[in-house]
Formats: sequence, C-alpha cells, structure tokens
Amino acid sequence: MLAKQLSLASIMVALASAATAPAPTPSSTPIPAPLIPLPPFNGTFAGSYPPTFAIAATSSPQVAKWMSELNLTAVPDIPVVKVTSGGTIVSPNSIPASACDWSVDNCINKDITTCPVGVWGLSYDDGPTEFSPQLYDFLDKTNQKATLFYIGSNVLTNWQSARRACGAGHQIAVHTWSHHYSTSLTNEQFVAEVKYTEMAIKELCGVTPTYFRPPYGDIDNRIRGLLTQMGYTSVIWDLDTNDWEMAPGGKLSMQSVNSAFDAWIAKAPQDTTGHVCLEHELYQNTVNAAITNLPKLQKTWKTMPVAACVNDPHPYREKNITLATLNGAKTGVNNASNTTVGNSAVSPGASATPTGTAKTGGSTPARALTSVTVAVAAAVICAGQMLL
Ligand SMILES: *[C@@H]1O[C@H](CO)[C@@H](O)[C@H](O)[C@H]1NC(C)=O
Ligand SMILES: *[C@@H]1O[C@H](CO)[C@@H](O)[C@H](O)[C@H]1NC(C)=O
Ligand SMILES: *[C@@H]1O[C@H](CO)[C@@H](O)[C@H](O)[C@H]1NC(C)=O
Ligand SMILES: *[C@@H]1O[C@H](CO)[C@@H](O)[C@H](O)[C@H]1NC(C)=O
Ligand SMILES: *[C@@H]1O[C@H](CO)[C@@H](O)[C@H](O)[C@H]1NC(C)=O
Ligand SMILES: [Zn+2]
Repeated sequence: MLAKQLSLASIMVALASAATAPAPTPSSTPIPAPLIPLPPFNGTFAGSYPPTFAIAATSSPQVAKWMSELNLTAVPDIPVVKVTSGGTIVSPNSIPASACDWSVDNCINKDITTCPVGVWGLSYDDGPTEFSPQLYDFLDKTNQKATLFYIGSNVLTNWQSARRACGAGHQIAVHTWSHHYSTSLTNEQFVAEVKYTEMAIKELCGVTPTYFRPPYGDIDNRIRGLLTQMGYTSVIWDLDTNDWEMAPGGKLSMQSVNSAFDAWIAKAPQDTTGHVCLEHELYQNTVNAAITNLPKLQKTWKTMPVAACVNDPHPYREKNITLATLNGAKTGVNNASNTTVGNSAVSPGASATPTGTAKTGGSTPARALTSVTVAVAAAVICAGQMLL
C-alpha cells in the first residue's frame, strides 16, 4: 500500500511532462479503417474543459447540471480522505471499515477484479500518451483489443491517438481528469473529473464510456456510489506489474517486469480465476514491456478487454455500438435503434449486468468452453476483429 501511495508524486511529474511533450511521432504503419464510426472532429474541442492535470473546477453551471442529475441520497456519506501532496493517506486508521476503502484495506465491493478462468483482461492505464502509437500499432498487428483507461487531460493533448483507439474497437474507459486520489476529492470534484473526461471522449469518439478505474486503485463506497449514479462500473485488478516504477530514474528493471509475467504464466495451469492485470501506456519502457510480454500472454490466456471478459457487449452508453465479447458478440454498429445486429452469438440473458459480475468470473468454466467459443467466434468475427 505504501508503495502505491508514494507513487503519486512521480506519476504526477511524469504525467505533467507528458502533457507538454513534443508532438508524437506519426505511426510508421498505416492505421486500419475504423471499425467504429467516428464523428467529425477538426482538432478543436467544442466544449470548455478544465486546465490539464488540475483538479477539475466545480463552479461551472456544467458541473451543477451534472450534480443535479444524480441522486445523492443514494451516495454514502463518508468523509473525504486527506492525502498529502506526496501521496500519503493521512490518518488511515480513522477510515471506517464501512467505507470499504481499497487503498487502506483492499476492500472490494462490486468492483471487477478478475476475468473467468483462462481469460486475461488486458488493460493499459494513463494514456493516451506520446508512446501510445507504438502500442496501438502492435495491438493492430496482432488483432488484439484492450481496455484503455484514459486520463481526460491526456485525451485533450493526444486526441489523435484517442480517436484511433476508439475507432479500432478498443474499450475506452475513464481514469479521471487529473489523476488524483478519488477518495481525496469532494463529490463535486469527483463528478467533474469523471464527466469532463467522458465529455472529451464523447466529442472525439461519439461514445460515452461506462467503465472506470480509480487512479492508484483508490476507491471507497462514496466513490462507488457516485459512479453508480453516473452509470459506471469500477475495475480494479488482481495482478499488478508495477511497471510504472520503471519510470525514468525509477527503481524497477524491465527484467523484473518480465519475470513477473513469466511467474504468472508458470502458475497459470493452477489458476482458479482468470486475471485483470494493471499495465500502463505511460512511458517508453512500459510500452516496451507491454509489447514484449503480450505474445506470451496470448499463448497462455485468451486476452481481451475487461468488458469482453465479463460478457458485456455494450461498454458504452450508446447501445447501438457493440464490442466483441468472450461469448461471441461481434464488434459493430447497429444503425437501427432497436435491433441487436452484430450481437447474434450472445445467448439470451448472457449479456452482463455491469456491476456484480466480478465474483461470478472465477466459477465460469471458460477452459471447457474454449473450443466452442473459438468456433463460434471464428464464424461471426472476421479476421481483422478476432478477439479470442
Ligand atoms: C472546429 O470545430 C469547433 C468545435 O465544433 C468549432 O467551434 C470551430 O469553429 C471549428 N473550426 C473550423 C475551422 O471549422
Ligand atoms: C434516491 O435514493 C434513495 C436511497 O437509495 C431512494 O430511497 C430514493 O427513492 C431515490 N430517489 C429517486 C428519485 O430515485
Ligand atoms: C448511435 O446512437 C446514438 C444515440 O444513442 C446516435 O446519436 C448515433 O448517431 C448512433 N450511432 C450510429 C453509428 O448509428
Ligand atoms: C451502419 O452505418 C454505417 C455508416 O454510418 C455503415 O458503414 C454500415 O455499413 C451500417 N451498418 C449496417 C448494418 O447497416
Ligand atoms: C424495431 O423492431 C421491430 C420488431 O422487431 C421491427 O419491425 C422494426 O422494423 C424495428 N425498427 C427499426 C427502426 O429497426
Ligand atoms: Zn493511473
């Protein structure tokens, strides 16, 4: 826990410098045509947004409107947690157990933390960054989709990469506007952090995310209540690469990160659950680690976005967009509002309710289903969209 708390300062420095970094080098390989249609965008956002990497201001009519849409009676009244600027939680002992605070006691409450046995939920946090094109090129090359937990401030800066990733059919999800500890924010600040990020993604991609990962995994029942009110499912993880510690000047070596993956792979035959693993598209070396290790993961598990592994074909509020899932939904767009074109392989009742799915993951006999699922998927998913 301590390591996680101390990470704030170094990550904030890195994020801030990423925000002012020179323009990304253009992708060396052609970017495939989008699978998900993108709205027109001329490089200028229509909305007005908070300064990048500052805690989103709450005084605007926009934030007041967002607050008015929520039922705050349904949000537990838990005190805002004090966190030092260095990222240390002040008086963790005063946080009641009823808060179910993950940072303090690893308490989980309806958060997704695993995938079914045999499945690896692939997620990359803190993007999009100047390094993202290298990762997205590699994902395209291996027909791999992932969940990308985006920082709103980075979406504004690196919007070309954000649009590319949406169009490619990756699952775009929210990781706050400014990457602060969620429990240290007021209700209004937290709502603003989520909604401004959501707004930027909607402008660029035409979709509204419904999945959220708290920076540092910092979440409690107040934050969960606000997320539920905003229509979000929270995602933590059960495996952590600690790859961010490879930050320039950081203490972790690439060899350690590679070894962590190798150890998980060696233990895979004894797995009683699948996994959701924390990786970052934050630095050159975290992207290098992602690219180096993904082929090994693909040989060991079925690798896919988190929503795919919990069989949620609609990780966006726009239900006419379908993203491929473990049980065979196919990425595509339903132009007619009341049809489910592209989703025919999903058995009735199989689409996941967004919350409460994490705990069912471990008991799903995914290994036994593998060949059937692959056969169904092969029939309905064209090669370029192959997910399993
Ligand atoms: C670009 O789009 C923005 C937002 O929609 C709009 O305000 C602006 O006028 C457009 N600029 C040009 C040059 O079309
Ligand atoms: C708001 O939430 C409270 C507590 O869950 C519930 O009793 C009430 O019916 C909700 N109000 C509305 C308008 O949904
Ligand atoms: C999907 O539905 C939304 C309304 O929810 C609509 O604005 C949008 O144009 C639709 N997208 C496509 C590609 O049909
Ligand atoms: C839906 O509309 C898009 C363009 O908006 C088109 O490319 C696609 O073929 C349409 N899909 C269906 C199933 O009609
Ligand atoms: C909606 O569904 C009904 C019944 O399946 C169908 O007859 C109708 O054409 C659909 N409407 C659209 C816009 O797709
Ligand atoms: Zn993060």
